[in-house]
Amino acid sequence: MQLSARLLRVLAFLLAALPSYADSAAAIGTARGGDDSPSPPCSPADRAALLGFKAGVSVDTTGILATWAGSDCCGAWEGVTCDAATGRVVGLQLEAPPPKSRHYMQGALSPSLGGLEFLESLVVRDMARIGDAIPAALSRLPRLRQLYLEGNMLSGPVPGSLGGLRSLQYLSLAGNRLDGQLPPELGAVSGLEQINVARNRFSGAVPPSYVNLSRLAYLDLGSNLFSGAVPGFLGQFRNLALLDLSNNSFSGEIPASLCTLHSLTDLSLSHNKLGGHIPPQMGTLRSLNSLAMDGNMLVGSIPASLLGLQKLWYMNLSGNGLSGPLPTGAGNALPSMVSMDLSHNRLTGDIDQLFRSLSTAASHGNRTTTPQIVLAQKLEHLDVSKNKITGALPDFARGAGLRWLDISSNAIGGQIPSSISKLSGLERLDVSRNRVRGTIPASMAEMVRLRWLDLSTNELVGRIPDNFTRLTGVRHASFRGNRLCGQIPQARPFNLFRAAAYEHNLCLCGKPLPPCRKIR
Ligand SMILES: *[C@@H]1O[C@H](CO)[C@@H](O)[C@H](O)[C@H]1NC(C)=O
Ligand SMILES: *[C@@H]1O[C@H](CO)[C@@H](O)[C@H](O)[C@H]1NC(C)=O
Ligand SMILES: *[C@@H]1O[C@H](CO)[C@@H](O)[C@H](O)[C@H]1NC(C)=O
Ligand SMILES: *[C@@H]1O[C@H](CO)[C@@H](O)[C@H](O)[C@H]1NC(C)=O
Ligand SMILES: *[C@@H]1O[C@H](CO)[C@@H](O)[C@H](O)[C@H]1NC(C)=O
Repeated sequence: MQLSARLLRVLAFLLAALPSYADSAAAIGTARGGDDSPSPPCSPADRAALLGFKAGVSVDTTGILATWAGSDCCGAWEGVTCDAATGRVVGLQLEAPPPKSRHYMQGALSPSLGGLEFLESLVVRDMARIGDAIPAALSRLPRLRQLYLEGNMLSGPVPGSLGGLRSLQYLSLAGNRLDGQLPPELGAVSGLEQINVARNRFSGAVPPSYVNLSRLAYLDLGSNLFSGAVPGFLGQFRNLALLDLSNNSFSGEIPASLCTLHSLTDLSLSHNKLGGHIPPQMGTLRSLNSLAMDGNMLVGSIPASLLGLQKLWYMNLSGNGLSGPLPTGAGNALPSMVSMDLSHNRLTGDIDQLFRSLSTAASHGNRTTTPQIVLAQKLEHLDVSKNKITGALPDFARGAGLRWLDISSNAIGGQIPSSISKLSGLERLDVSRNRVRGTIPASMAEMVRLRWLDLSTNELVGRIPDNFTRLTGVRHASFRGNRLCGQIPQARPFNLFRAAAYEHNLCLCGKPLPPCRKIR
């Protein structure tokens, strides 16, 4: 879930916010290739630079470089784009075709690429075995706007000379083995709109000189070894839409200045060493789609202002030291929410208050009765496990979109409402390790999508309803550690689970436990 959510966020972002390489390549092609006059031949200097690159590649299973023969480097050479008027190479785009595991180039990036003096876009992507250092000679490309060297095996530090690429707007070095600190010199490339250095071995702090990168829309430093504070100056980047600092060793507090980024759609600070409080103004990040701060050392309460985020569909605050009551509101909170994870904290408060805040029906509530909960169809995943939450599950009127509900390891009491069957899309229900009393509602037999059902370690009494035999899709179930009695439903899968799933009850019997006495 985490991976796919992240992938979707990044994809959505790329589609929405960035002029893609394809667009600009098409622009180059149409703007410059349109007339009928014969194109000038490929520039010999550019051809020599390209052949230098080819010579640096010892193995090519993509078949691309096999097309690099003859003198017409503009027409016939795959991945090469020229300006039709001048015959100068303006684009070099080399990407391994799928399946990626089988196609790669092995070798190094030749410094001769620095000879392509009209180059605007250089893409060497997913070549897997292109290694060694990034050549400092790339700094001799004054027109370079896009430099994408992703998914290779480049190593060593990023040459500071890249700070000389004054036209550079898009830089991605993601998914290599680069290390050292980020070059302070890049802070001088004031037109930079994208920096992606995720999944490398960079360390140290974000250079203070980056304060001048005020056009940045996309900054992904995820999965490196960065440390130091989250720079407060990021809050001055008015265009910042994606900020991913996840899986590093950033420490200190979350700067309140980030809360002024009204274009921010994706913020991930997951898996760092961040402490202190969640800034109370975070609810003013009105463009936010996803917010991930899981796996830090955040303390204090969850600001109620977060409930007002209208576009937020992913929120993960799992694995912190957050305390205080669950955020509550009058209903209709987080109307776009799909996946919300507050697990592994020290949160208190009532579970029914949380559902009431999320309920879309609060406004037409009937004053004479407690209003029933209507969950938005979008809401799929709710995890509040491992907290200190109390209260009882409320009555549900609707919530068929919910697929995953985990309230385990809390102090939740009350009974399982018979209306839980309105959550008819549930695939995973975990109520274990709480103080839930009463009987298991027979209506749960209608929840035929269930694959995982854990009611263990509660205070449930009575029987496991016979018509649970309808729940044929269940792959994991546990009723262990309650005060249940009577015959276990004698049909698969319930008579096939291990005995441990039924042990420590009052008097359950029948397979997989010993047979029931005749007296029943
Ligand atoms: C939230 O983060 C935790 C810890 O990083 C992870 O295990 C969990 O899968 C995430 N939850 C969701 C819904 O993505
Ligand atoms: C940022 O840019 C300003 C004005 O161009 C310049 O004076 C300053 O030295 C730069 N700051 C850093 C840290 O490079
Ligand atoms: C975190 O980063 C390390 C390298 O620094 C990497 O090995 C690991 O897979 C990353 N974890 C996640 C969840 O991305
Ligand atoms: C509210 O509930 C009461 C009792 O169930 C019922 O008589 C009344 O008609 C309801 N009113 C509305 C507006 O739904
Ligand atoms: C299960 O059994 C109970 C009690 O016998 C009954 O009220 C209920 O309608 C049954 N539900 C299903 C889904 O068969």
